[in-house]
Amino acid sequence: MKLIVANWKMNKTPKETKEYLETFLRLIEGVDDNVEILICPPFTSLCIAWDILKGSKVKLGAQNCHYEQKGAFTGEISLDMLKELGVSYVIVGHSERRWIFGETDELINKKVIACLEKGIRPILCVGEKMEEREAGMTLKVIESQLKLALSGLDEVSERIDIAYEPVWAIGSGNPATPEDAQLVHSFIKELLGKVRVLYGGSVNPQNAGEFLSMPDVDGLLVGGASLDPSSFAQIVKVSQR
Ligand code: 13P
Repeated sequence: MKLIVANWKMNKTPKETKEYLETFLRLIEGVDDNVEILICPPFTSLCIAWDILKGSKVKLGAQNCHYEQKGAFTGEISLDMLKELGVSYVIVGHSERRWIFGETDELINKKVIACLEKGIRPILCVGEKMEEREAGMTLKVIESQLKLALSGLDEVSERIDIAYEPVWAIGSGNPATPEDAQLVHSFIKELLGKVRVLYGGSVNPQNAGEFLSMPDVDGLLVGGASLDPSSFAQIVKVSQR
């Protein structure tokens, strides 16, 4: 099944979350159940989001987690805390976490392992920077990120989703071409086997269909265009065609 994800990043207060979700649920009424829809609000909106989404066809995800269960980790959020709020997915290793907050492959690996142990589905993000792409390193970078993030784990492909998000395409209005995405997605499947691979980076209602028409694009991870309920609802509808 295709997976369409909204990553709100650091946007929307609880009040704005409530308004968005009430509108969004109305807009997707009647949409078939052949697509999984996931919304990842900031931590502070998870509670209100779950109140509204519980019992609907929309699932709830978090944008980050800590790998320890509890303890002296000021400012961190554990998977048990997230689970109790209805979270079933966590985005792990987003490029903003890697490049703004210094997350290493080793840390990302610990988070992936912790998610799997807790039965929360990780969406592991990988992607090359522009200079790596220009140096012809794209596939090498992807392979290394995957190997390190999944080290010590075997046969994970059914319990995890991968998001290919080229760093230069994120928030730039300059997406990868669907053909470029297809190439990387099929490479990821060569490495990992039958895994779901989402594309992210400047996806909008106009280009969503082209990405999803590629044989190995199994879903979308949407940032900016998911902040408006009608634009995200349009993307969900496109994914059903
Ligand atoms: P944009 O859709 O804003 O480019 O963001 C993509 C992204 O980072 C989703 O995780």
